[in-house]
Amino acid sequence: MPKIPILLDGDPGHDDAIAWMLAAASPELEILCVTSVGGNQSIDKTTYNALRIMALLGIQAPMGRGGPRPLLSPAMTAPSVHGESGLDGPALPEPLQEPEALSAPALMARVIAQAREPVTLVPTGPLTNVAALLLAHPELKGRIKGISLMGGGIAHGNWTPAAEFNILADPEAADIVFRSGIPITMAGLDVTEQALLFPADFERIRAVGGPVAQVVADWLEFFYQFHRSMGYPGAPIHDAVAVAWLTHPELFSGRDMYVSVETAGRYCRGSTIGDPRGRLGMPANAHVLLGVDREGFARLLTQAVGCWKEG
Ligand code: BDR
Ligand code: CA
Repeated sequence: MPKIPILLDGDPGHDDAIAWMLAAASPELEILCVTSVGGNQSIDKTTYNALRIMALLGIQAPMGRGGPRPLLSPAMTAPSVHGESGLDGPALPEPLQEPEALSAPALMARVIAQAREPVTLVPTGPLTNVAALLLAHPELKGRIKGISLMGGGIAHGNWTPAAEFNILADPEAADIVFRSGIPITMAGLDVTEQALLFPADFERIRAVGGPVAQVVADWLEFFYQFHRSMGYPGAPIHDAVAVAWLTHPELFSGRDMYVSVETAGRYCRGSTIGDPRGRLGMPANAHVLLGVDREGFARLLTQAVGCWKEG
């Protein structure tokens, strides 16, 4: 089977790191490049984390560093969720490579232009880099087959009552992406808060053995502690849903609809408004994931860490 060429763009972050682990382990996927974006932590920290994750997983691809801030908003971070480093928990190897001289959007543009076929973008942080890419290179839209993103929530938010973190961190960027006309699969909170891993799952992952299994189990444990304090029954592995959808769509249910992004509003800035009944008269711009086979998702992640078992 030919592999699906993907670009990973994220703000790692525990669940970004687990998403990239799943991508690296998936024989169906080919990672063409990795880019960092500010979000869970500053761009310095997410870039360093991205390079350390690539070293851990043996991802061999060019890496591009994102800019220091969102398109218009001031930068916001999430140390309460991911710690001061943005990826607190187990020790990680030091980077084996430097970021490219090109910025993240410029590297994405080069990779997309040179790819043998249209590519799929997998953004798991604020959409700053993707929007900057689309603004600078509208001619490349036809070379982007789709965007499988983690962000938003039709029913509710997690950072405000209405807004999810990735969209709230850069609503103007999200608005550009959702209006781009590129087919989007939205892994928002509606599905990702069902994509829970529980302590019994962490132990199954640890028991697989090998260096990556240990690190992933420790990441899960760290991520769980925060979510447990917030009343979640498990750790929602949000970002891994955007990867799992590409290789195992049968694990998910969803619905096509028009999704708009609120960029103003006293209470609703950064919210994603779904229109399943077509009230706005707009054609669907997103396939919104709404349900997941949790057991199947947990099994997929458990099998994935086995990839590094032999060292
Ligand atoms: C999203 O916010 C970040 O903290 C996670 O990495 C995920 O991408 C969930 O709202
Ligand atoms: Ca993320």
